[in-house]
Amino acid sequence: MAPPEINSDIKAREKDVHCYIADLETVNEPARRLLEKYSGIPPDQVVPHILEIRVRAWSIVPYPCIGRFHFLELSISLSPLYPTILKRMIESKHTLLDMGCCFAQDVRKLVSDGAPSENIYGAELRQEFIDLGYDLFRDRDTLKSKFLIGDVFDDSDESEFMQIEGGIDIIYAASFFHLFNWDDQVRVAELVVRLLRPVRGSIVFGRQRGNVNPAEYEHMTNQRGTMFRHNQDSWKKMWQQVGKSTGTQWDVNVTLETGRNDPDLFEADGPAPGFDGNKRRNGDGSLRFQVMRV
Ligand SMILES: C[S@@+](CC[C@H](N)C(=O)[O-])C[C@H]1O[C@@H](n2cnc3c(N)ncnc32)[C@H](O)[C@@H]1O
Repeated sequence: MAPPEINSDIKAREKDVHCYIADLETVNEPARRLLEKYSGIPPDQVVPHILEIRVRAWSIVPYPCIGRFHFLELSISLSPLYPTILKRMIESKHTLLDMGCCFAQDVRKLVSDGAPSENIYGAELRQEFIDLGYDLFRDRDTLKSKFLIGDVFDDSDESEFMQIEGGIDIIYAASFFHLFNWDDQVRVAELVVRLLRPVRGSIVFGRQRGNVNPAEYEHMTNQRGTMFRHNQDSWKKMWQQVGKSTGTQWDVNVTLETGRNDPDLFEADGPAPGFDGNKRRNGDGSLRFQVMRV
């Protein structure tokens, strides 16, 4: 099924909005190492190479994570759970799905740290982002991970995601649930339950924007929709609802960090009422979660 057309509000967006940083002065060391050692890009080519891929990606959908180079954070490795996840993947050959993977930079980080690439999957709406990921990391001929292209809300039998139903041990979801309103986040969580192996220890973890005041907020890349921003309580409540609707039980571990240095904070368009001087919506924070089947 073809991904939805990008609406004209997005197509018209200029590059001078604050969620687009024009220049890249430095590349953090782990991302540079990945591009030099894993992808074989010469050191003096790293910055121009990233800029070239980023410009192509921004013209597809101007996600703040693209405009602000958040994809260079390799966010999976910043999770406190990362060493445990890596161990499970290397020693127990556990499978992992990166949901809404975009360029799949976190897949490459796992592979470069020793996880078997054939046990990793990526789920993504847009084939163009997967192709850009191959171009960014120059591994089209070597990476054995499988990318499933489709809409997570497609519940037809043709959905590619059904190929892995019940077969995934670990799901990573970064800046993904927060794209949707409450009801759609519940649908995504119910899909997560279907895809995960139905055993104790199956886990979904990730991070996204949250807010101390849980509510539906204006969506920044789809201004006709809303995105539900959770705090710890609303995230737990959502998983109770999902537990009931799926007949499953989940141990939910969640934090909301509202410090000024959180990477997820600066995605809002501004200036607008309710935003502070850094275009940060009052009460915004970074929500980290680990939800494990019990
Ligand atoms: C904000 S980006 C986050 C990308 C990546 N996880 C990261 O942390 O950098 C969200 C990604 O989810 C994908 N996506 C959005 N809606 C989707 C849907 N309904 N089904 C599958 N993927 C979707 C987008 O194409 C995009 O690549």
